[in-house]
Amino acid sequence: MTLKDIMWFESCDSTMDICHRFSAITKKELSIGALSQLKGRGTKNRTWVSPKGNVFLSFLLHPDPLKVHIIHMLGTLAIYEFLSQSLHFNNISLKWPNDVMVQGKKISGVLQENVYQNQDLIYSVLGIGFNVNLDGIQDIDNEYTSMKIISGKSYKVKNISDDIIPYFYDLYYSSMGVSQIVSLWKNKIDTIGKNVVLEMKDNKRLEGKVIGVNNDGDLLLAKTDKIQLTVKSGLVNKLIVD
Ligand code: BTN
Repeated sequence: MTLKDIMWFESCDSTMDICHRFSAITKKELSIGALSQLKGRGTKNRTWVSPKGNVFLSFLLHPDPLKVHIIHMLGTLAIYEFLSQSLHFNNISLKWPNDVMVQGKKISGVLQENVYQNQDLIYSVLGIGFNVNLDGIQDIDNEYTSMKIISGKSYKVKNISDDIIPYFYDLYYSSMGVSQIVSLWKNKIDTIGKNVVLEMKDNKRLEGKVIGVNNDGDLLLAKTDKIQLTVKSGLVNKLIVD
């Protein structure tokens, strides 16, 4: 199997779980796709609605531990590049930390799960959910879009996946260093400069203006001219743009 090859499942619990299971028997990188998922999951323990017609991909990865915190950035950048370079869509942006937006609506989200033994990284799984043929009537709690909603056309999911995967691996194996990747990612985040409300995991709310992200991918939030906070994505439940 080459890297671009993908193992397909008609249906599964979650492509994330398939990768976790494979981690016990291979130390190589692996791409898993499913046509539908019964237990698709998103960030913050949310369900990822996974009907037939959308892309559900996971990659089993063994990254350099010094780069593990940028793997989710590569996922969003791959989708961004696919949308702009292959589909020539306009008005694409990234919403911190893991969403890809078209015309301000979510078309894709990525999920990264890292497995450590003691303090050592054993492997990572990166999942990409990408809305292809999703129509406008799903019960999803955020404003979403899909290739079909945007273009009015239907697409073959396996062809779309085959197009996306090289964008991801080209970034994953590129010689770019962490700061180059972070700056590519940062430049596409349209959350920067906006007033936001952060609903935190501990039920607190933080309000302020996003003034940037740092090299770890944390959000830099100005509460006032004098008070600035560094916010880790893992502590945030929801980011609402004012
Ligand atoms: C998010 O919450 O925005 C991230 C969504 C990630 C969904 C993908 S679909 C393929 C992979 N399998 C899952 O169960 N989740 C990820």
